[in-house]
Amino acid sequence: MSPATNGSVLVIGGGLIGLSIAHQLARQGHGVEVLSRRRSEAAGFVAAGMLAPHAEGLRGPLLQLGQASLNRIPDWVNQIEADSGLCCGLRSCGIIVPFHSAAARDAHPTAHLGEALNRKGLEREAADLAEQWQAGVLFAQDGQIDNRRQLMRALEKACVNFGVKFQEGIEVLDLLQQNKTFVGVRVRNAEGELCTLQADQAVLCTGAWSSKLLPELPIFPVKGQMMSLQGPRDALQRVIFGPGTYLVPREDGLIVVGATSEPEADFREGLTPFGQRELQQGVASLLPAAGQWPPMERWWGFRPCTPDEGPLLGPSALAGLWLACGHHRNGVLLAALTADLLAAAVIGKPLSSSDAELLNAFRSDRFEP
Ligand code: GLY
Repeated sequence: MSPATNGSVLVIGGGLIGLSIAHQLARQGHGVEVLSRRRSEAAGFVAAGMLAPHAEGLRGPLLQLGQASLNRIPDWVNQIEADSGLCCGLRSCGIIVPFHSAAARDAHPTAHLGEALNRKGLEREAADLAEQWQAGVLFAQDGQIDNRRQLMRALEKACVNFGVKFQEGIEVLDLLQQNKTFVGVRVRNAEGELCTLQADQAVLCTGAWSSKLLPELPIFPVKGQMMSLQGPRDALQRVIFGPGTYLVPREDGLIVVGATSEPEADFREGLTPFGQRELQQGVASLLPAAGQWPPMERWWGFRPCTPDEGPLLGPSALAGLWLACGHHRNGVLLAALTADLLAAAVIGKPLSSSDAELLNAFRSDRFEP
């Protein structure tokens, strides 16, 4: 089998999760090689960058995972910024979730963890919110990061600065094993040649495509269409997270608008009139004034979903192959903690009891009968 990766850990997938793990491994002195098929399909370039365990109304262990990751984000971002010399665009701006009534607000699973707002409170936080929203919750602890324009670039730079090797345009076709032990991958490289790469350890971070390599993984794509608008600078101070549509204001007035949720689309690429109309209607229902703001970009991507909407983290059925996939709507939020947990697992570093418990709660074998 050739060529060998000289003891490096293979990170399969160059998206946000793959880069985050590569960065942590490399800064702890490990050789890392990232295999990336197509940069543009990485969910890290598609997501809106919300850091929103409370606004999303997560529950149970997924809420705990999200909160633990949210707590790590400031230090994680400081590390990436120091390692790359680039800004990540973190905004601890808070998120407002509007509701039609106080009763609907109080039924939100995490309502007790935010500040309850009446109509007057909503107007204080987002002056032009449509009349139909009569109650809300402010989650001041939630926020956002500029994943598309800043975080991904900074992480790539931080990885390069720590000696991570990248192979772009390479497609992993098969995972190779001997006696239930991972031994490498068969790939088609950027020149179109078939070859194998030998490695003792790899982390599978191929998002919605993960079950193409390991069919037993219960991961399926949930397509999301998105767009951005150029609002007046400072038109919105906080993220507005409505039912089905959210508005994420960047520092320069760009408003990222998301997102449709289309499990039936499978891996069908492209924008659709229906999806785009749904976004525009969502914008109008939240903030009528934003209907006049010029559209800037439109795009789509595929969330990697699992039956319980939680990620698959930790060991796979093959010794030496680790899983970090299936982050569904929460990949940006969960990247910080995923990177810590997986780097520790690969290196064999002991985890605190709370981290070990979280990692255990998201093992892929929770879906086995
Ligand atoms: N994180 C929000 C979404 O996936 O649309």
